[in-house]
Amino acid sequence: MDLKKIRSQFQKWDISKIEFPKIDFSSLKLPKAKMSPLKIGNLTAKIPIVQGGMGVGISLSGLASAVSRAGGIGVIAANAIGMIEPDYFKNGVEANIRALRKEIRKAKEKGDNGIIGVNIMVALNDYHEMMDVAIEEKADVLFLGAGLPLRGIPVERIRKAGVNIVPIVSSARAARLIFGYWEKNYGTIPDGVVVEGPEAGGHLGFKHEQIEDPAFRLEKIIPEVVETINEIGKRNGREIPVIAAGGIFTGNDIHKFLKLGASGVQMGTRFVATEECDADPGFKQNFVNAKKDDIMIIKSPVGMPGRAIKNNFLNDVHSGVKKKFKCPWQCLESCEADKANYCISIALNNARKGNMIHGYAFAGSNAYRVKSIVPVSELVDELKSGYSNVVEQSSEKIKNEFEIIKGKLIRLKDEYEEVIDQALNQLKKDYRNSINKKSEYLKIEIEKQKIKLASLKEEFLEGIGTLSILQKEFLSVST
Ligand SMILES: Cc1cc2nc3c(=O)[nH]c(=O)nc-3n(C[C@H](O)[C@H](O)[C@H](O)COP(=O)(O)O)c2cc1C
Repeated sequence: MDLKKIRSQFQKWDISKIEFPKIDFSSLKLPKAKMSPLKIGNLTAKIPIVQGGMGVGISLSGLASAVSRAGGIGVIAANAIGMIEPDYFKNGVEANIRALRKEIRKAKEKGDNGIIGVNIMVALNDYHEMMDVAIEEKADVLFLGAGLPLRGIPVERIRKAGVNIVPIVSSARAARLIFGYWEKNYGTIPDGVVVEGPEAGGHLGFKHEQIEDPAFRLEKIIPEVVETINEIGKRNGREIPVIAAGGIFTGNDIHKFLKLGASGVQMGTRFVATEECDADPGFKQNFVNAKKDDIMIIKSPVGMPGRAIKNNFLNDVHSGVKKKFKCPWQCLESCEADKANYCISIALNNARKGNMIHGYAFAGSNAYRVKSIVPVSELVDELKSGYSNVVEQSSEKIKNEFEIIKGKLIRLKDEYEEVIDQALNQLKKDYRNSINKKSEYLKIEIEKQKIKLASLKEEFLEGIGTLSILQKEFLSVST
């Protein structure tokens, strides 16, 4: 038996040559994790937050310009915007056109060169007129929701004016349908997509029974839309941002959806509870006062479910009371005014003015968590620091885990070397003692030690593998 050969058998795997994945936490500046900017077409918003358009005068130039000054995308909602004009009941469409034009101009003036968008419902009867105004006034981006923006989009004029288009959808299927239609019929695709999940405020793009179904949670839909849109984007040589909406309340929530592949978030409820929100303080106070049980799903006269804050007005209409009204004009294509219990535009306009006896407030599922009305800048600061905290905490957690495994590996390395030393010494002794006996026992011992070393090796390599995974994870949360 050749002792040299045995030694070389044991030392074939030279642990000293194995390197730990190199990550030097002390040289890595632990991220003062900032949210990345949001790119939509030719726009870059400093923070990836879109203020959701909120119709019938809740988000006008006041709120939109404040959000754009804070680095996000401020959005004016076009539907029934003419209700802020004195002649809406006589000239609905004209009042809408005039009011939208005025509000875009005001928002741009006050917006400090920030980004101003317009939210337009496809289901509006004056949807094309509203789009024309937004294009003429060069709004930076149009969010088109409540229906599929397919036919009749003036794509050439939109592109010439440098306006960006972002449809709002509730499923990967709808996103595929819109983007596919555009690709085929317009030779271009929209510049981004908002995915509104079932926790959102306002009208919901889900059937009643889907709202509570886990298969339709925003966390489930976002990765599906991201996959679909990435594929279409790649085909068109473009990166198309996916923006998550519905129930997003904290910096932690923003972090969660960005991790799931979204490039930004759209928030409504949080922006209602701001000083700059254009609604009456009485409207905002409903959000502060709301309890969890007050947030309810309603069946809107438009034929879609919606989420709102319970009050006597809603109790009445749900128990069948008909609120008398005269339809100002057929503003929504699908509204059957003669069968409706009330006019939704009039009710929402009353609420906007703080008259909650004759109206009600749309609100997201988290509205009961609103505790006070704050300036937009304070809300944005809170969201930014919430986001940073969660990134820092998760990097810190990974760093600790990394150090624990590294310590374990160092111990394993020592143990490995000790086993080699012991084994060789023992073998040397046994070899001398039994050289003449040609002992079988010796061979068995060698095999035993080899098995032990193999298992230590396996454990060690597994640890190295985990370190690499942790390193990757750390680098991904810190960028
Ligand atoms: C009071 C209110 C009015 C809204 N009005 C509209 C609207 O006119 N058009 C639209 O596309 N979405 C509307 N929404 C939805 C928001 O734009 C946004 O997507 C939604 O509020 C996100 O959910 P969150 O409230 O949980 O943040 C409204 C939401 C609220 C709370």
